[in-house]
Amino acid sequence: MKVLLIGSGGREHALAQALRRDPVLEELHAAPGNPGIADFATLHAIDVDNNSLVVALAQELAVDLVVIGPEKPLVNGLADSLRKAGIATFGPSAIAATLEGSKDFAKRVMHDAGVPTARSFTCTTKSEMEAALDALGAPYVVKHDGLAAGKGVVVTNDRQVALDHAYLSPRVVIEEFLDGPEVSLFGISDGTTILAMEPAQDFKRALDGDLGPNTGGMGAYSPLPWAPADIVEQTLLQVLKPTIAEMKARDTPFVGLLYAGLALTSRGIRVIEFNARFGDPETQVLLPRLQTPLATLLYQAATGALKSAPALEWSEEAAVTVVLAAEGYPMGPRVGDPITGIGSAEGAFIHHAGTAIKDGVLHSTGGRVLSVTALGQTLAAARTTVYEAIAKITLRGAHYRHDIALAASTAPKVREN
Ligand code: AMP
Ligand code: GLY
Repeated sequence: MKVLLIGSGGREHALAQALRRDPVLEELHAAPGNPGIADFATLHAIDVDNNSLVVALAQELAVDLVVIGPEKPLVNGLADSLRKAGIATFGPSAIAATLEGSKDFAKRVMHDAGVPTARSFTCTTKSEMEAALDALGAPYVVKHDGLAAGKGVVVTNDRQVALDHAYLSPRVVIEEFLDGPEVSLFGISDGTTILAMEPAQDFKRALDGDLGPNTGGMGAYSPLPWAPADIVEQTLLQVLKPTIAEMKARDTPFVGLLYAGLALTSRGIRVIEFNARFGDPETQVLLPRLQTPLATLLYQAATGALKSAPALEWSEEAAVTVVLAAEGYPMGPRVGDPITGIGSAEGAFIHHAGTAIKDGVLHSTGGRVLSVTALGQTLAAARTTVYEAIAKITLRGAHYRHDIALAASTAPKVREN
């Protein structure tokens, strides 16, 4: 099988690594890719926001499958253009990707599908915004309707702060506050059938102890020893299957990765958000644990053949990933500094996210620069390997969280295997 992977982040690096492990893979191409992905794939430096350039590349390479990593090309209709050209594609259409692109659309789909989520109001005027805040009460949760790269959501007890954030967007979703731990649970769908992956947990705040601003994600781990034993089954039943059925009933089937961001509240599972693609950095811990051959699986999803696919198989090992972020991230990341010490990371794997090679030297180019991932018999063992490896990496001003998977690694095991 020949595969073209679209994207250039840590998620795509983990995808490339996992695709390579599938014996059916003959050729792997990536556009635009990054210096880490170059170890697994032939890179093509094209603008992936230009759909016709990607279609032309896929045709020229005669690939059997295109896998789209990031949300932007999805919302931009890349999957539609590829399918129109007869190319099997893993990634939802522009309309189906609106589950991520519009919080209001996601709420309407969940409502129609009977999927449990926070009670909410979609508001376009100042008086609607004020009324919604007062109807739901503090803590206030205000979300800008469009794609916002993790910066569109404010959770606050201060009504004025909530209103000021709401006024910044012409359309906002104001919703009930959900307490309880957050879990990311992904489903792989062919539009009709959906297979749930194991749960992972992401750390969204920049600083230890869940302090500081929201980010794209500072680390992740899987499995979750503390989670209810039936979390996968319940999420499939209450969230993933009804959402896929609703999208199909609307004639806009969702083919790709449906990311459910969940809150496990005292009243049960609630969806906080949907994304239309693999999460980053959750993918960096999930794919190294997935034993099912990935290229075959994603091809089955892209061609409507998941019904006959066997259940996903998982390694018993635990995985932890920690993101190394640039100085100033997420506000104003500093870029262009040399990165050293990544060769010495024993037992750990480096996934590149914001790197480039300049004059033969690896440099930082983005806020989340790379992530360090390790597997271990336990979360504690994986943590030890990751933190030894990340301590050897040098990048001026860089920071990372020290408490990724810390609480889970010492939590009593409630899960039955
Ligand atoms: P989102 O972009 O919707 O994932 O929101 C970003 C983060 O804001 C989430 O990971 C949560 O930590 C927080 N958040 C979003 N919605 C809620 C809610 N209804 N209740 C509590 N926290 C929320
Ligand atoms: N880990 C959060 C995201 O991928 O959006």
